[in-house]
Amino acid sequence: MPHATRTPPASFRLNTGAEIPSVGLGTWQAKPGEVAAAVTHALKAGYRHIDGALIYQNEEEVGQGIRASGVPRSDIFLTSKLWNTYHDKVEQCLDESLASLGVDYLDLYLIHWPVRLVPNESSKLLPVNPDGSRAVDRHWPMSKTWAAMEALLATGKVKAIGVSNWSIPYLEELEKTWTVVPAVNQVELHPFNPQHELKAWCDKRGILMEAYCPLGSTNSPLLSDPELNAIADKHSVSPATVLISYQPQRGCVVLPKSVSPARIDANLELITLDEEDMETLDGMAAKGKQQRVNTPLFGWDLGFDDWYPEQIKHKLANGGYRKTW
Ligand SMILES: NC(=O)c1ccc[n+]([C@@H]2O[C@H](COP(=O)([O-])OP(=O)(O)OC[C@H]3O[C@@H](n4cnc5c(N)ncnc54)[C@H](OP(=O)(O)O)[C@@H]3O)[C@@H](O)[C@H]2O)c1
Repeated sequence: MPHATRTPPASFRLNTGAEIPSVGLGTWQAKPGEVAAAVTHALKAGYRHIDGALIYQNEEEVGQGIRASGVPRSDIFLTSKLWNTYHDKVEQCLDESLASLGVDYLDLYLIHWPVRLVPNESSKLLPVNPDGSRAVDRHWPMSKTWAAMEALLATGKVKAIGVSNWSIPYLEELEKTWTVVPAVNQVELHPFNPQHELKAWCDKRGILMEAYCPLGSTNSPLLSDPELNAIADKHSVSPATVLISYQPQRGCVVLPKSVSPARIDANLELITLDEEDMETLDGMAAKGKQQRVNTPLFGWDLGFDDWYPEQIKHKLANGGYRKTW
């Protein structure tokens, strides 16, 4: 995976022509009472890119944080995501996010997962069947959701559209009907899950990859990795700085989440990794460290990973599997 040694770019260009800052503040699991202050601090510190979603249930506070920062809306790249229970009401979901955020457009709107969940009396957002499994609609064509996303562009309420959590088979299927190529595919990316093949597929079609969980998320299994720490020591920076710098240098937007002012500041400081560092980081998963940290229960039989119900039950019972959705 050859990489030219170069300073990580401060921004990328989407296939729409718009510029997107290469580091964005993540807002998932930023608790109520924390996220507004984090967003304000980040914008004052120089961030110009915020990544949110309806399912994070904190968009109102994200909007408050934006307004409190004094940074003009037009200077901020703002992303939200269509939640799984809204595949049949795409514009309604967008309108709910716009109202919560208190803005009249998004710079980027993503389909959060290629999965439709059917809301029922158990929940509007995370419905389950009587047996406890997620209420997945297995027959909903994603081409229909994407067509509704394409139609949003004409409303002016979104400047660009994209997808999230789409693997190659899902993208190949969508490619048969899309009239607008997704601007972005936001997926889990870090050295334990580099998704080189998916990145090559997206690069070829001008789809920019965005790295979520770049630090390995809460209770990260990455930060203590010896190879990562050796690279950090070599450059006299933290392992987090290496993980964040790695993504823009390989050509991906990076979305670290923090609610700590000091870490928000630190996460904006990128370094230039050398060829050897990049090779090490690129090769870690192939050496046996492959691991996903975000494995939702609606994904086990939908081709996102190799989990089967018995394995999930076993892992949950033994504390070895983190239930994220
Ligand atoms: N599209 C999707 O399906 C999807 C899924 C997951 C995530 N995302 C997006 O990607 C963003 C990032 O993912 P994530 O929030 O799961 O995980 P992450 O950014 O990989 O990690 C966040 C964790 O790392 C800690 N942290 C932050 N900066 C640090 C530093 N410099 N040193 C050590 N620890 C640090 C944070 O704690 P503190 O807050 O206390 O600093 C938090 O516990 C999300 O917030 C969300 O916007 C999207």
